[in-house]
Amino acid sequence: MYKIGFIGCGNMASAMIGGMLKQGVLKKEEIIASGPTQSKMEKIGEDLGIDVTTDNKEAAKQSEIIVLSVKPQMYEKVICELKDDITKENIIVTIAAGVTMEKVDRWFGKETKIIRTMPNTPALVGEAMVGMCHNEAITQDEVKIVKELFESFGKVEEVDEKLMNAVVGVSGSSPAYVYMFIEAMADAAVIQGIPRKKAYTFAAQAVLGSAKMVLETGAHPGELKDAVCSPAGTTIEAVRELEKSGFRSSVMEAVNAASEKGKELE
Ligand SMILES: NC(=O)c1ccc[n+]([C@@H]2O[C@H](COP(=O)([O-])OP(=O)(O)OC[C@H]3O[C@@H](n4cnc5c(N)ncnc54)[C@H](OP(=O)(O)O)[C@@H]3O)[C@@H](O)[C@H]2O)c1
Repeated sequence: MYKIGFIGCGNMASAMIGGMLKQGVLKKEEIIASGPTQSKMEKIGEDLGIDVTTDNKEAAKQSEIIVLSVKPQMYEKVICELKDDITKENIIVTIAAGVTMEKVDRWFGKETKIIRTMPNTPALVGEAMVGMCHNEAITQDEVKIVKELFESFGKVEEVDEKLMNAVVGVSGSSPAYVYMFIEAMADAAVIQGIPRKKAYTFAAQAVLGSAKMVLETGAHPGELKDAVCSPAGTTIEAVRELEKSGFRSSVMEAVNAASEKGKELE
């Protein structure tokens, strides 16, 4: 098995590592993570049981697969620091919005095997959605290895690189909008008298079940919506209110705004 190194270990890397360990696709000793803050890295080492270091070069030297999991604006600096230790055998995985494979190649200054991905934080519970694309330097077998690792914490779809910003809008960032939706539904349930904790369970389970219906039945979401709306019933009254306040347009604009921001970052 390959050793995998995470350069930067914040929210996203922790969620991915947590997901991989939970599914048992990698052993703790097959993972190393690096970051600049000693106390934070020690805490991650204790919590996850993986090797940690404050030395990015050390993490890269020990790893075949290197996941660059820093903020987009840190990529150039981190690549500059690592480029002398990277060989043409290493697989570089990126997870950042707005960082194209062309930029990564240019910053390394040599031919590099690159897989560009856009995961999301539900990786922590094994339910991430990941968009993935790769450059020409990498073989199909190597893509398969990384894809299988990522599939341990969710679903993976390969897309053209030009669609990666659309992936940012629809799945990379969308857990935030879904949490807002759940919070708002639960607040209304609290208005109606359901205790706060139960309100989150009702709202979140309704979202989870509805998402499963879309994925598992393959039915059109509009058809599933129609099936809930009985004539002169309660649901169609709610749908009418949502349409009045521009719910669908608002969601479309939100997804589009995140995608456009991703394009701006490129
Ligand atoms: N969060 C999401 O939902 C999400 C979804 C999809 C993709 N992403 C992508 O994932 C990447 C990371 O995002 P995040 O949310 O995980 O951010 P984050 O929580 O801020 O994590 C970034 C980590 O990088 C570390 N770091 C800073 N400078 C570094 C350096 N020079 N070398 C090594 N590590 C360094 C930080 O350590 P300190 O805290 O000690 O400074 C921090 O732990 C971003 O590129 C983002 O676009 C995030």
